[in-house]
Amino acid sequence: MTDYFIGLMSGTSMDGVDAALIEVHDAGIKTIATLGYPMPAELRKQLLNITHPGENEITRMGQLDNEMGILFANATLALLAKANFAASDIIAIGSHGQTIRHIPDAPFHFTMQIGNPNVIAEMTNITTIADFRRRDMAIGGQGAPLTPTFHNHVFRTVERNRIILNIGGIANISILPANIDLPVTGFDTGPGNCLLDSHMQLHFKDKTFDNDGEWASSGKINSTLLSSLLSESYLELPPPKSTGRELFNLPWLEKHLQKTNVGIAAVDVQATLLEYTAQTISQAIATQNINGGEIVVCGGGCHNKALIQRLKELNPHHQLTTTIIYNIDPDFVEAIAFAWMAHATMNKIPCNLPTVTGASKAVILGGVYYVK
Ligand SMILES: Nc1ncnc2c1ncn2[C@@H]1O[C@H](COP(=O)(O)OP(=O)(O)O)[C@@H](O)[C@H]1O
Ligand SMILES: [Mg+2]
Repeated sequence: MTDYFIGLMSGTSMDGVDAALIEVHDAGIKTIATLGYPMPAELRKQLLNITHPGENEITRMGQLDNEMGILFANATLALLAKANFAASDIIAIGSHGQTIRHIPDAPFHFTMQIGNPNVIAEMTNITTIADFRRRDMAIGGQGAPLTPTFHNHVFRTVERNRIILNIGGIANISILPANIDLPVTGFDTGPGNCLLDSHMQLHFKDKTFDNDGEWASSGKINSTLLSSLLSESYLELPPPKSTGRELFNLPWLEKHLQKTNVGIAAVDVQATLLEYTAQTISQAIATQNINGGEIVVCGGGCHNKALIQRLKELNPHHQLTTTIIYNIDPDFVEAIAFAWMAHATMNKIPCNLPTVTGASKAVILGGVYYVK
């Protein structure tokens, strides 16, 4: 039997909606079509503003929830048109939503993704599943990362150890041991593109990211700043752990810059942030004692040539590739994962990995907004 599902994702980078239409059948999955739907600059600004505490948050969040719902629905309609599919061909949409707050460790821990699923269901006429993370959190989990379940399903092999490295705004790894008796583990390593993007935007108003890491490559690493950044206690925490913009943001960088107490040129700060990103990812991998095997990269950071080059140098015992060699577009792995999770939820299959999130058990994720 062949069923079709759509996955929708907008990550911490807020660079746009990734939409994927997949086919799920007994032997596995196949990507039918993908589409990157642009994030309007004004909406992005408002989303960035609401990621930290501010005035009138509830009203602003309510409005943004609907605006994001419309954006996700429009991305879906554009994807259907591109693929020449009708709404009635699709069993369900898995919509991750837009994270605006992720606080997994405070006494009243919570995570919040917006993008009103009622709007998505009504505008597309497709059953929509959303709110994937909070059920895991309700049973003691971090609610993140969730994609290791999908990585385990499509990328695991008995032939070699594989590490899936997703470099989104935040970077996360999934460890897929070749020995199937060993559990899958995974966690957020720290910043992916978020610090590089934020610092770029601070200095170049018309740019959202450092193309190919060129600006970073033209600077010099400042070792005082680098060691200050490396002293961040999140890096030492044992998994399960997850993080977000609440920690790795410009005020956090500013605090470290003030601590170093020396004037550092902006370009050298960017070079240091790139090195920091590469080192934190590589150190997290090193703690896993995986001898050899592959590091398979996905997420927008795989296009940052300078970052990939450093990751290769810092992980000489691993072969570094991208998911493209396994026929999955690295820019759409997360969207495809949420399409696959929609399939799991519709079939009442639990989809979180307690060994990753720390939840007390595996549970069915998400709320379903039916259209029929
Ligand atoms: N050519 C490139 N050079 C450097 N960075 C890039 C390039 N293309 C994409 N990126 C980075 O990828 C990010 C988007 O990655 P993505 O996986 O969509 O993250 P998220 O899941 O957080 O939205 C951009 O914000 C940018 O930092
Ligand atoms: Mg993105």
